[in-house]
Amino acid sequence: NEIYFGGLQGTTPRFPITSADLERAASAALPPSVWSYVAGGAGDEHTQRANAAAFGRYGIVPRMLVGATQRDLTVDMFGLRLPTPVFLAPVGVLGICAQDGHGDLATARAAAQTGVPMVASTLSEDPLESVVGALGETPGFFQLYTPTDRDLAASLVTRAEASGFAGIVVTLDTWITGWRPRDLATANFPQLRGAALANYLSDPHFFAGIDGGREAKPVAIIQHWASIFGNPLTWNDLPWLRSLTELPIILKGIVHPDDARRALDGGVDGIYVSNHGGRQANGGIAAIDMLSDVVDAVAERAPVLFDSGVRSGTDVVKALALGATAVGVGRPYVHGLALGGTAGVTHVLRSVLAEADLLMAVDGYADLATLREAGARRVGAGG
Ligand code: FNR
Repeated sequence: NEIYFGGLQGTTPRFPITSADLERAASAALPPSVWSYVAGGAGDEHTQRANAAAFGRYGIVPRMLVGATQRDLTVDMFGLRLPTPVFLAPVGVLGICAQDGHGDLATARAAAQTGVPMVASTLSEDPLESVVGALGETPGFFQLYTPTDRDLAASLVTRAEASGFAGIVVTLDTWITGWRPRDLATANFPQLRGAALANYLSDPHFFAGIDGGREAKPVAIIQHWASIFGNPLTWNDLPWLRSLTELPIILKGIVHPDDARRALDGGVDGIYVSNHGGRQANGGIAAIDMLSDVVDAVAERAPVLFDSGVRSGTDVVKALALGATAVGVGRPYVHGLALGGTAGVTHVLRSVLAEADLLMAVDGYADLATLREAGARRVGAGG
């Protein structure tokens, strides 16, 4: 409505509307090395493209004469009542996508303005305490890349809990970085530039393992960080993870239904279906194609979060119809951030939410339970 009424007075929106237009504008706005980091994926990026294209294989079947004049898109999960079923997926090194270097704070402010929860990455240019501060009343989740140094891991989780995060999202698929040709071709690995180490540099446990401690040379600090990064968690680590916090623990990167079952048996509280937007492994199945199988395996025991390939409100509705409890937006909000900081991220979130809400209205689904019961029809071999 805001946009249409603006049009009556001759004003057009400040930011592009479609995800394709946003992507084009962001690619022109960002320096090439930053763009290749944001846009790039693993291998020839087949999985990355498949993630988005696969949504084309699902369709919502509309219902008429329902009068869905009021829609209820609220979601209850982990004891929280959320106004909408959308969240901001964790994205590291957001600082390089914002003009003032504080992309994490800008994103958190957009979350605060829209009530859309943010999953804040470990690899942040602003310490987690300031990110949660900028979120205000909107819930945040802390995404953990689990360092090999267990004291440091425990300290990060304790800090997240003490500062007011509502849950810990443990990312499983990135204990090592995948084969990313765009970054390799430009020898560009922004994680190693030190710009996203605020959570480590603000942690006393981080310096314990470095010769020279806080006085060490920057290169020694980066080398130390690289050496503690590659920690492949195993099933045996779940009791330890569980022992670190009272907060809900959500495992990100689960794609196989058996892994979802086993994770819940191991005491975690939520399953997050994702293939990291195709950034880590190429040659994989589109994440949305595994969602129903995981939802069936979880059998209502826990919330199922989803991301990878979500580009619009329509995609959000399809993922919800396939059983997701909440749906993560990734790259599109980074494009918004690049174009307009907090205002750009807010624009992307409001557009996605408005499209999802309108689609539910037109298709006659007044709430998420009815939508989920109806499901999405598989419509062919596209993607
Ligand atoms: C990510 N993602 C990610 N995930 C995570 O758990 N921790 C992180 O630090 C990052 N960093 C990151 C950086 C960039 C630039 C991107 C694009 C993505 C993965 C992210 O949470 C999510 O899984 C994907 O973005 C989903 O894919 P699409 O929908 O963005 O293509």
